[in-house]
Amino acid sequence: KVNIHVDQPTVKLSPVLYGLFFEDINYAADGGLYAELVQNRSFEYYPVEGWAGNSRKLHPLYAWQKVERDGGQVQLDVSNESPLNENNTKYVILKLDGNGVAGIKNSGFGGIVVEKDAKYDFSVYARRSEDNDNPLKVSLQTKDGKVLASGSVPSTTSEWATYDLTLTATDSADDAELVLTTGGGGELMLDMVSLFPQDTFKGHKNGLRKDLAQALADLKPGFLRFPGGCIAHGHSLENTYRWKDTVGDVSERKPNWNLWGYHQTYGLGYFEYMQLCEDIGAEPLPVVPVGVSCGFRQPFQVVPMEDLQAWIDDALDLIEFANGSPDTKWGGLRAKMGHPEPFDLKYVCLGNEEHDTPECRERFPYFVEAIRERYPDIKIVGTSGLGPEIPLFDLMTKTDVYSTDEHYYMPPKWYLDNIHRFDNFDRSKPKVFVGEYASEGNTQFNAVAEAAYLTGVERNADIVDMTCYAPLFAKYGSTQWTKADLIWFDNKSLVKTPNYYVQQLFSTSKGDVYLDNSVEMTNRASSEQKYAGQVGIGTWRTGIEVESATLNGKPLDFEDWKVLDGDFRNTEDGNYAQLDRNLEAAVSVAPQSTDGEKAVYEVRARKTGGSEGFLLVFGYE
Ligand code: AHR
Repeated sequence: KVNIHVDQPTVKLSPVLYGLFFEDINYAADGGLYAELVQNRSFEYYPVEGWAGNSRKLHPLYAWQKVERDGGQVQLDVSNESPLNENNTKYVILKLDGNGVAGIKNSGFGGIVVEKDAKYDFSVYARRSEDNDNPLKVSLQTKDGKVLASGSVPSTTSEWATYDLTLTATDSADDAELVLTTGGGGELMLDMVSLFPQDTFKGHKNGLRKDLAQALADLKPGFLRFPGGCIAHGHSLENTYRWKDTVGDVSERKPNWNLWGYHQTYGLGYFEYMQLCEDIGAEPLPVVPVGVSCGFRQPFQVVPMEDLQAWIDDALDLIEFANGSPDTKWGGLRAKMGHPEPFDLKYVCLGNEEHDTPECRERFPYFVEAIRERYPDIKIVGTSGLGPEIPLFDLMTKTDVYSTDEHYYMPPKWYLDNIHRFDNFDRSKPKVFVGEYASEGNTQFNAVAEAAYLTGVERNADIVDMTCYAPLFAKYGSTQWTKADLIWFDNKSLVKTPNYYVQQLFSTSKGDVYLDNSVEMTNRASSEQKYAGQVGIGTWRTGIEVESATLNGKPLDFEDWKVLDGDFRNTEDGNYAQLDRNLEAAVSVAPQSTDGEKAVYEVRARKTGGSEGFLLVFGYE
């Protein structure tokens, strides 16, 4: 029995209580949310020594292969002489032998998914030697050479210029390649070879993959924290995410390596993040580095105090980029990129999960002071440091930031044991932003543990202002963070985890206020499953007695029950089962055959003690 005292509201819930955390980990950006289909489009890849063993021997021709047909031959070289611009320093030279057909092809991020009748935007920068005036033929092909779409750039010149084509697919394939061929001799130089589906989220050019972005929109997030995570402060200072490298024309952005062991084109950059926020109704929450690189790397790197102003200016300029009028320098760039209206940035997050070091303690206050002085209305979200111990909370209190970001990746038990974590937090101190959390698994039990924790968050919503699960995305076969991620995907489809549905449930049914309530559990619990899957009973902090369990009216044998977690005992007469109190536990029964009939499980259970806790019956395939 649930008693809800509708006449007894307690605290107000923040309008931005449930949000999203995006980091380019597990190929979340390039090869993921960012809809670009060509991998290594500007030949900028190089070997990457990432954090925690995430190293890869990448190279400038990674994902590219030569094409030689009808007696044609080609040599592929990568050059940095007379590049496209100072940020995009490498390009490929096709040295053609003058015979047959030759060229280059790209296999995308493990194959390009092509859909019949869909249109694709192809673009390339090209220049040629004087002695080659052959057209550049562009096609999408299956591995065995079936042409799915084609087009042609009639001629190119000896100066870098960009060429665009629309390709329309006549058939579908899951692992197509983008093939560029030409004839004749001489040299053909190519850079920024790009292919996007026209059908991106909200139809933006340089846009996002529709299904993945829609999955974010469906969570109705109050905010989006970006770009990380560890990539925000970087594995070293050269690897720090500097937002100015990620805006402007995509061909002029300065790519960087990713500490998770691959590359970032920055095609998904600060403009695109803010545009996404606008599209899904989320407040942008950019994470700005504070002159200290990731503390997991020892020795970490630090910006000398005499150079810190440039980093502080980055933070201030970011606010101008988001909110300044088009006649300011950075507001002007935003307008030029197609968004004259401000993005209405309200929050800036300073630092990501910084380790408690004197260097961080010295630098952090300068960022707070500068932002506060120039932009007093911006809410500054600080960092409490790593883990539930929140080692930097005292510094956050001293600098009097609006709220402070705490991170923890803990087993489900921790979340269940810490439902009361915030009950005694000092209300005079900064608010709390639970900026990264997950219970180390994507099972239903993990999701329930997270849900339980969020009930404690809501009870304390006067101080817990924002929360977001992490990480958000994981690409099958390309993960660096394997224990738990909110959305799993491949090139074509996605899987929403039980944890996703918990986030969605809490976000889409969030109340305005928290009502006083209590739970009495003496009643029968039952569950009707529409499939012959497993049925289970979970409990937390209370004993339960399973009195009877039936499948389609026939008793289930208690010997079939298996313990998923916790302590489960058959009693002497075998008539019921006992889960000890003060344990989280779950038991389940193995799948039962129903000969194709609907499987209706009925479980009778009752609570045997404890003043709190809950009992649930669940089913899964
Ligand atoms: O979410 C994955 C990583 O966990 C983040 O990059 C970092 O902030 C944390 O340690």
